[in-house]
Amino acid sequence: MIGLKKILVTGAYGQVGFCLTQLAAEYGWAVLAIDRDKLDITDFSAVELLIKEYQPDVIINAAAHTAVDKAETEIDASYAINRDGPKYLAEAAATIGATILHISTDYVFSGDKEGLYTENDPVAPQGIYGTSKLAGEEAVIAANKKHIILRTAWVFGEHGNNFVKTMLRLGLQRDQLGIVADQFGGPTYAGDIAAALLVIAEKAVMSPETTQWGVYHFAGAPHVSWYQFAQAIFDKAVETNILAKAPKLNALTTADYPTAAKRPANSRLNCDKIFSEFNIRPSNWLQALNNLSAYALQ
Ligand SMILES: NC(=O)c1ccc[n+]([C@@H]2O[C@H](COP(=O)([O-])OP(=O)(O)OC[C@H]3O[C@@H](n4cnc5c(N)ncnc54)[C@H](OP(=O)(O)O)[C@@H]3O)[C@@H](O)[C@H]2O)c1
Repeated sequence: MIGLKKILVTGAYGQVGFCLTQLAAEYGWAVLAIDRDKLDITDFSAVELLIKEYQPDVIINAAAHTAVDKAETEIDASYAINRDGPKYLAEAAATIGATILHISTDYVFSGDKEGLYTENDPVAPQGIYGTSKLAGEEAVIAANKKHIILRTAWVFGEHGNNFVKTMLRLGLQRDQLGIVADQFGGPTYAGDIAAALLVIAEKAVMSPETTQWGVYHFAGAPHVSWYQFAQAIFDKAVETNILAKAPKLNALTTADYPTAAKRPANSRLNCDKIFSEFNIRPSNWLQALNNLSAYALQ
């Protein structure tokens, strides 16, 4: 229990923010969880005022512009939310000696590497979303020594929109689905991201002098293609009677399914560093699918 320590969660209505809000209280934090309606993170004065008033020990920024295709045209909004907002939060945190935990993405990489991406691999984002998220990482690192950047990928949870919910919806509507089979990654349960961040937050507050600040990868295992992920979702949906029958899945290539923003072919993140530093294991996404009825009901 972290008794009397205060945490501020931004983007609290998002997939990860929602889980963070629930779990932080369970972990014993005093929590102020807010989204855009209470704090627009792109408004520097509002960020500064709220942080001065609330005096959090830790700020977890789960707010982001996550619509990767829209980002290609919503360029100003992407940079405001993904770069400037995190910068303001990190700066305001630094003025009161607070820690900032910020979530980033596999999209900072090109996706061209053969093996798993480590924290030391060169970054080369391919679109506005990835470029603006990378700029956010750099801004947070520059603004506040007490920072952790958690890069994750393929996020899904009971709350919010994601691939699992899309599959369940389409599975009810169609007999056949085309799913991309040449992009690989680790599906990551939002609740596991929240739990990982709270483990790090506790260490940061209890032992700041021995906390290794920096960039960490946290994603799910085993690694799969979107096609294989869809298969696992439909297997579970049939097994648990959410669907009477799975649709036939047709394997597509990236070229068959053009999108405004380029997707990395390889989103597989090496998560060894977070295990050796914080004893945090990869998200067990298959286990998280055991709760599939909660996704169907939302
Ligand atoms: N989703 C993925 O697959 C994925 C993959 C890798 C990394 N990530 C990263 O993981 C983190 C959490 O993602 P998520 O999937 O939980 O995101 P999400 O569900 O899209 O939630 C983001 C939240 O931030 C809010 N927000 C947007 N602009 C804001 C602003 N100016 N001020 C305050 N709040 C604002 C959004 O509100 P509105 O709904 O009103 O915009 C939304 O509630 C993000 O940093 C994202 O980049 C996500």
